[in-house]
This record gives sequence, C-alpha cells and structure tokens, in this order.
Amino acid sequence: MNKEILLLSGPNLDQLGARSPEIYGSMTLAEHVEGFTRAAEEFGFSVRHLQSNFEGDLIEAVHDARSRSAAIVINAGALTHSSWALADALAIFEGAKIEVHLSNPAAREPFRHVSTLAGVVNGSIAGFGATSYLLALDAVRRLVNPA
Ligand code: DQA
Repeated sequence: MNKEILLLSGPNLDQLGARSPEIYGSMTLAEHVEGFTRAAEEFGFSVRHLQSNFEGDLIEAVHDARSRSAAIVINAGALTHSSWALADALAIFEGAKIEVHLSNPAAREPFRHVSTLAGVVNGSIAGFGATSYLLALDAVRRLVNPA
C-alpha cells in the first residue's frame, strides 16, 4: 500500500522561529517537519515535504501527489485565504487531505476567517501550535487505515 504523506508548507512558513513567535511559536519549520516525520514513520508512513513561497509550486506538488501520495497535509499560509487555484488542485486529489494551521485563524483578523481550502479537504485542524501537525497525522492515519 502507498503510505507516502505529502506535507506542504506555503508562503512565509520558512520564516517560522523568527516570524511572530507570540502567534506561531518559536519552533522552526525544519523542527515541525522533523517532529511530523518522526511520528509519521512510527505509523509506517514516509513523508515528503515541500515549502514554497510560490502558489504554482504548491499546485504542481499537489498534481504530482495524485500518482504517488496517500495523503496531503497542508498549511498553505495566507494562500488559505485567497487561493481558489490551490483549492481546485486539491479537489482533484483523491486521497486524504487535511488543512493545518498553527494559530487559530478564526480568532484573528477577519480576512483569515475565510478558507478557500476548507470545502475540499476532509477537515481542518487549527490553533494547537506544533500539536496541530500531530493531530493532522492522527487524522490521516484514521482516514488511510480505517479501523
Ligand atoms: C497560518 C495562518 C495563516 O492565516 C497565516 O497567513 C500563516 C500561518 C497558521 O499556521 O497559523 O501564514 O496558516
């Protein structure tokens, strides 16, 4: 069985650690990816990670995942609130799809209250800091290997 998870990180997430630590915490993206990967491997998944500040790179990674990944876990950064193109790409991916946020966008500025991705993913996890990624992994595990 295909057990690859594509972990996608959108714009500005490469700045985690230095970027608004009071909102996003002090962990770097590399640390989040390492924690997620280690936990995923315990469940027999492999993880491929891509961070990009360019919408098209993320869209092409979603297309590529159609032939190789069982699941996509995506923190699209601010593209969450604007990218119908990324939503369209995710809509044609047939595996498990989880939207993740470190912060809770619903509790922040009004422009963050809309997610273009929410309607095309299995579900969204937001507001738990680094734990959001681990909760997303738990969701993937249950969706890919239903008990
Ligand atoms: C974010 C929330 C978005 O609103 C923001 O633009 C980000 C990070 C989060 O992880 O909390 O870049 O996706």
